[in-house]
Amino acid sequence: MKTLITLLGLFLSLTASSNASPTVEFPSSFKWCVATAAHQIEGGNTNSDWWDWEQIPGHVKNGERSGAACGHWDRLEEDTRLLSGLHVRQYRFSVEWAKVEPKQGRYDLDAIIHYNRELALLRAAGIEPMITLQHFTLPRWMREQGGWEWDGAPAAFAKYSTFVLDNIGFGVRDWITINEPMVHLVLGYLGGVQPPGKKGDLASLKAPVIGLLKAHAAAYHAMKQRHPEIRIGLAHHLRVFDAIPGWNPLNGVLAEKLDRAWNWAFAEALETGQLRYDIPLATEVNEFIENIAHTQDFIGINYYTRDMVEMTLEAPGFKFSVPEGAETSDVGWEIYPEGFYRVLKAAAEHFPGKQILITENGIADAKDTKRSKFIESHLEAMNRAMREGVPVEGYCYWSLMDNFEWSEGFTPRFGLYEMDYATLARKARPSAAHFSEIILRNGF
Ligand code: FCB
Repeated sequence: MKTLITLLGLFLSLTASSNASPTVEFPSSFKWCVATAAHQIEGGNTNSDWWDWEQIPGHVKNGERSGAACGHWDRLEEDTRLLSGLHVRQYRFSVEWAKVEPKQGRYDLDAIIHYNRELALLRAAGIEPMITLQHFTLPRWMREQGGWEWDGAPAAFAKYSTFVLDNIGFGVRDWITINEPMVHLVLGYLGGVQPPGKKGDLASLKAPVIGLLKAHAAAYHAMKQRHPEIRIGLAHHLRVFDAIPGWNPLNGVLAEKLDRAWNWAFAEALETGQLRYDIPLATEVNEFIENIAHTQDFIGINYYTRDMVEMTLEAPGFKFSVPEGAETSDVGWEIYPEGFYRVLKAAAEHFPGKQILITENGIADAKDTKRSKFIESHLEAMNRAMREGVPVEGYCYWSLMDNFEWSEGFTPRFGLYEMDYATLARKARPSAAHFSEIILRNGF
């Protein structure tokens, strides 16, 4: 009997030990990663459109401005150590166009040296870089010419992108041309809450959408011509749209239309050349665009939440809500890991055979009471999709540290590291240790 109890005790302690093999396990080649963006962490982005935008009262909550942000520009060594501490294999960050090319055709040597140093530090730490070329911000000169609606935009973006490839990112394999084209355009041209601050209707989105498609494709062709071995994609922000429960079947139709327009139209156009979406009574687009097909080597996915969709009589003809009683983050987004599984399955169906990189997934959670569970539940959903054949290559948590969250200012706290904005001290949250343990075990 005594032996039996001892054996039982031994068995229990073995299964409870952290050396037990994980129940949710990832391939040994899986690329664990964290993501940031230049304007949100570096500080001093004085030649950008966002800098100007922030100076106008009402544009950012509590009148905040990005200012010195997290002071990352002056803390490359320290922040590389933060990355090493997490044991990530890859780091997604953006190079700031407004710093590299503050005036059209004039490149800034300090910025070039700076980003080269950042890459050298990453390489020395054994961390693979993934560079985003445009993450919501534009140089002031580019905005003054009309931003993505300017017909010189594709050539200007391609020129900047190849400049970065030749002078900064030589040897970098993974590139994101544009972060979240749909968020960038809808907030800027429809919502009026990001530059250029237009409050147009749905039909008015078409011109900047086409401008951005052409800009991406121009950069893609120019970069691949120089270095065919690199991989280029975009970070698409995918959401789940579900009809609110009820009798009205039109809510379901609308949810499907929004799903097409928001999630797939842009990415599909880069596969086929055909831009196709329609929103009932608002807009219909079905247009072939030359030279943009076959310009994505992988599909980058940012996933955060879902929207419940309901028709309305006022423009734009629909509104969004969060299901009653749902658990939410500090910014009110529903925590919905099943949606991650759903968008991954859908992405694999839309783009058969394409590699998928999770370029962002994260939660605003200042108290850090939900983050570890958020990460685990989303990794579980992603793992399930992978076991069903969805080719996910890596996962970037958003974000390495708290940062300037656009029009929400510094309030939302997405970081694994907590930022004290008075001293710019970084402090690991408990979830940082949890995430790095997951990385080390390759599962949980
Ligand atoms: C994404 C953006 C990123 C950050 C997170 C919270 O939409 O790409 O810059 O704002 O949301």
